[in-house]
Formats: sequence, structure tokens, C-alpha cells
Amino acid sequence: MHTIVLATQKGGSGKSTLAIGLARAAIDAGHTVRLIETDQQGTLSNWQARRSYAEPRVDPIYAAGDIADRLARLAEEGVTLAIVDTAGGVGASTSVAIGNADLCLIPARPSVVDIEATAVTLAEVRRAAKPFAFVLNQTPIRGQRLTNAATTLGDGALDIPDVVAQPFIVMRNDHQDALSAGLAVSEFAPSGKSADEIRGLWSWIEARLGIAATLAPDQLSDLPVATMPAVQPSAEALSFA
Ligand SMILES: Nc1ncnc2c1ncn2[C@@H]1O[C@H](COP(=O)(O)OP(=O)(O)OP(=O)(O)O)[C@@H](O)[C@H]1O
Ligand SMILES: [Mg+2]
Repeated sequence: MHTIVLATQKGGSGKSTLAIGLARAAIDAGHTVRLIETDQQGTLSNWQARRSYAEPRVDPIYAAGDIADRLARLAEEGVTLAIVDTAGGVGASTSVAIGNADLCLIPARPSVVDIEATAVTLAEVRRAAKPFAFVLNQTPIRGQRLTNAATTLGDGALDIPDVVAQPFIVMRNDHQDALSAGLAVSEFAPSGKSADEIRGLWSWIEARLGIAATLAPDQLSDLPVATMPAVQPSAEALSFA
């Protein structure tokens, strides 16, 4: 089982929204997924209560001391991917989640305050020596601010394709409307650009983790076209896989 942890101390940067979107994209790519909610705010539980589909299941784990055991049990049960949505800040649960991660995703809006706020989380991720990537979220479609944000996060000393996930996730109403409807964005608007971006982000993560889709080619052809990854990671982005 692989464990992805979404963490950043800044509230509202998109941890929960991305966790849900990526969970659905990973299911479509053939993974058996569990969403783990360590944030007592309950965004994922509330989303599941509005939802009429059983998958992906949301497991609330609010005690830091329970996280490692529960993840081990999920692996035994055949879950292939756990996606952990953490609370803003770096509390005990977030530290433990990061310590159990195969990849930490640090969402940030392309603003100076969001980017500055990633430092605390990044320090924790580095302390735990875990692989990580920033996810630029709620971005404009293009612009200098976006380029600056990506460059700042890449830190000059690091390889940007390795550290800033692709594609960036543009600010669009589909994300908010999907959450209100108890849906993932690719269920709400399967042929929309937001769904394409989230599928593309999942493909990038799969490549980063070095895990291929688990569906056989003949199963992939059975999926509706809208569930296929539409945005492929660049060859550059794949080069570190
Ligand atoms: N790409 C996007 N486009 C438009 N709205 C977005 C996008 N990503 C997130 N949002 C919206 O921004 C708000 C905050 O997102 P979300 O709750 O996922 O952030 P969070 O990091 O989990 O916040 P918290 O730290 O409070 O848990 C939500 O209303 C969500 O729908
Ligand atoms: Mg949240």
C-alpha cells in the first residue's frame, strides 16, 4: 500500500478538495483507495454524508497514536492507496501522518503568504526525510504570478519538475460545486477541465511514486472515456520516476 499525505499549515489551500479529487482519479486508474481524515473539522466525513456512492470510503482517525496501526491494517485488508487529509498547522496527527507517508503533497495557492506558510510543513517533511511535492492550487490559468510561485517553490536549488507537481490546478467553480453535491470533480463534470487536471495530477503522482495503474489494458478500454487521464505528465516530469 502507498500512503499519500496532504499537509500544509495554511487553511483553505485545498488539502481536502485535492484528497477527494485524487481518490476518485486513483479509483478510476484501478487502485483500491481509502480516504483517511485526521482533521476533526470533518470536511471529508461531511462530504461523504452528502454522497450516495460508497466509494471512496472515509475513515476518520483523530488520535495520532492510532494512525500507524490503522494504516497497517488497511494494507492487510488489500487497500492499495491511502490518502490522508490533515488539518491545517502541524499538529501531532499531521506529524505522524507525514512519518508514515510515501509521498507528502503540500498544496499552496500562488500567493506569497501561502508559499511562506509551506515552510513549517516542509521542515517537518524534511525532518522525516519523506519525498514531497508542492501542488499549486486555485491558480489563475496563466500569468507571471504563477510562474513566480512555481519558481519560488522550486527553490532554485531543486529540480522544479521533481518538486512542483503538474499540472497546476486552476481555480474553478466545479471544485466547489462538486464538494457541495457530495461528488468528486470528475464525477460532477467528467469532461470538464478541472477533472482533466485532477486526472493529470494523479498520473503525475503515479509516475512520482513509480506505481503503474493496476488495471489490465483490456480493463482500461472498458472505462468511460471521461475517466481516462487526459493530461499526461511531461517527459521531463517523468524522468525522476
Ligand atoms: N482549484 C480550486 N478551485 C476553486 N475552489 C477550490 C479549489 N480548490 C479548493 N477550492 C475551494 O477552496 C475552499 C478550501 O478548500 P479545502 O477545504 O479543500 O482546503 P483545506 O486546505 O482542506 O482547508 P482546511 O485547512 O480548512 O482543512 C473550499 O471551498 C474548496 O471548494
Ligand atoms: Mg481540509
